[in-house]
Amino acid sequence: MPRHFLSIFDLEKTEIEQLINRAGQLKKEKRGSVPHQSLLGKTIGMVFEKLSTRTRVSFQVAINDLGASPIYLNPNDMQLGRGEIIPDTAKVLSSYLDAVIIRTYGQDRITEFASNSSVPVINALTDLEHPTQIVADLFTIQEQGIDISSFNLTYIGDGNNITNSFIAASALLGYNITICCPEGCEPNEGILSKSRELGQNKIDINHDPASAVKDADVIYTDVWVSMGQENDSENKENIFQPYQINSNLLDSSKDNIVIMHCLPAHRGEEITDEVFSSPNSVVFDQAENKLHAGKAILEYFIKN
Ligand code: CP
Ligand code: NVA
Repeated sequence: MPRHFLSIFDLEKTEIEQLINRAGQLKKEKRGSVPHQSLLGKTIGMVFEKLSTRTRVSFQVAINDLGASPIYLNPNDMQLGRGEIIPDTAKVLSSYLDAVIIRTYGQDRITEFASNSSVPVINALTDLEHPTQIVADLFTIQEQGIDISSFNLTYIGDGNNITNSFIAASALLGYNITICCPEGCEPNEGILSKSRELGQNKIDINHDPASAVKDADVIYTDVWVSMGQENDSENKENIFQPYQINSNLLDSSKDNIVIMHCLPAHRGEEITDEVFSSPNSVVFDQAENKLHAGKAILEYFIKN
C-alpha cells in the first residue's frame, strides 16, 4: 500500500521536522542553482477541482525541478467531469502515474481516490484540510527564528481548512493555538477532539480578538469565504467585521508579531492593506516556501 498525505495527522512530529529541514536545504539549492533531480523520470498527475495559483504553479515547478514531469488534469477535460466514478478514475490514473496531487471539495472524495490508488495521493486542499500549506507555513515560522514546538499561534477568522490543519499540527508539535472566530464559525469538531486527545498543548477557541492576540507570537488569517462557500458570503462579510487584522487590533499584540496569510488575500476584509504590507508580514515568504516544502513532500512520499 502506498503512503498518502491526506491530512496533517498522516505525519509524525519527527517527519514534520524532517520535511522542514529538507525544505530548507532545497531552498538553498534552488537559490544556488544546484540541481536536485531526485525524482528523475517520474510522472505526477495534478487533478484540481478548485481554482489555484500558488499550489498548482509551485507544485508544477517543484516537479520540473525534481526532474519529474507534471500532467495537469482539469476534471472538466476528463471523464470524471461527466460521471466516471472516483474508484475507476483512481485505478486507471495510478496505473500510469507515480503520484497524484488532488485539490477537491469533500475530504471523502480524496479518501475514496486514495483508497483506490496504487500510488501516493497528496492533498492540495480540501474543504477539511490544507496540509501541504501548513508544512510550508511551519517552515516559514521556523525561518523567523521561532521554535515550532513552543510558540503561541493565534488564528483569527473562519474555522476552515487552514485552521483545521494548524490545530492538528499543534497537537503533534506542541505549540499553543488560539482560534478566534465568530460563534458558529468554529473549526471542525472531529479535528478538535482528536487534537485535544493527542496533544498536551493549549488549544483554545474564543471570540474576542483583542485578548486572542495579546500573547501571540504569530497572527494568522485567511479569507472569510473559502472556495465552495460563496453562497454564504453576504452573511459572513457582516459577522466577520470585528475579526479584521488591522493596526488597532495590533496595538494589543507584541511589537515583533509575525503576520501570516496563506493567500489569496482580500485586503480591506480579513486584513488591511497597511498590515498586509507591513514589515511584520511574511506572506510572500510563505508563498515562496510552498515551492521548497512541496518538493520535500513529493520526495518524501514518493520515495516512501
Ligand atoms: N495558498 C494557496 O493554497 O493558494 P492557491 O489557492 O492559489 O493555491
Ligand atoms: N480557506 C481558503 C484557502 C485558500 C488557499 C479556501 O479554502 O478557499
